[in-house]
Amino acid sequence: MSTPFVVAVDGPAGTGKSSATKRIADLLNLIHVDTGALYRGVAYLCFEAGFTADFDESDHAAISKIAEKTKFEFKRVKDRNPKNRLFVNGKDVTSMIRTPEMSMMASRISAIPGVRSALKGLQRTLGLQAPSILEGRDIGTVIFPDAPIKFFLTASIDERAKRRLAELEAQDSDTISFEELKEQIRIRDEGDSNRAIAPLKKAPDAIEIDTTSYTLDQVVKLMAEQIRTVQGQLPKKDQG
Ligand code: DC
Repeated sequence: MSTPFVVAVDGPAGTGKSSATKRIADLLNLIHVDTGALYRGVAYLCFEAGFTADFDESDHAAISKIAEKTKFEFKRVKDRNPKNRLFVNGKDVTSMIRTPEMSMMASRISAIPGVRSALKGLQRTLGLQAPSILEGRDIGTVIFPDAPIKFFLTASIDERAKRRLAELEAQDSDTISFEELKEQIRIRDEGDSNRAIAPLKKAPDAIEIDTTSYTLDQVVKLMAEQIRTVQGQLPKKDQG
């Protein structure tokens, strides 16, 4: 059996990864896999288990255990927004995992080697079920280094903080200022890019797109064109 077609999309927070990959998944009939949601799901369970964001190395084993034992499911639920929802251990956590606290906790726990290895197999399995587009930090470098097409999205930090603030406002949870958000993004970038295992970095063969001055429509168009071109060049059996 041939490997299903995989599109790898990496980049820091607020670069438009999620919005663009969701749209491209619909447009090109690909399964959308938001791998950051898995780290956020573990972060949620860590808070629930009583951990706080200032956990230390002595907590790594217990946090890794949480990641190993968690049952993750992405399910489409009609009449809910968004429709594609994440369940951890049977609980729908979709609306709880998008807060700034969850972002910081997800970033911190994602540096723990045991957490990364607990989630690696699942991400491969999700991507291999059907032609897919996966978004994250290490998709093109670690999870699918052999993906036939990879993107690395960037944007200025001001633009990224502006986009995140607009998202939070849309969810009615804008309890953080622009400057605070910018500082959180900076801290998260630093943690994600400098961790010892699977740091955020551009794969040498990834197409880099600076989305700062692009609209979402422009980013989607650009990416979709490149994906179609690569798909068309693959042998028929690998096109998805
Ligand atoms: O994409 P996101 O903002 O939802 O991701 C939340 C955090 O999860 C991010 O700061 C780092 C971590 N993450 C990761 O380490 N590897 C991935 N493939 C996806 C996310």
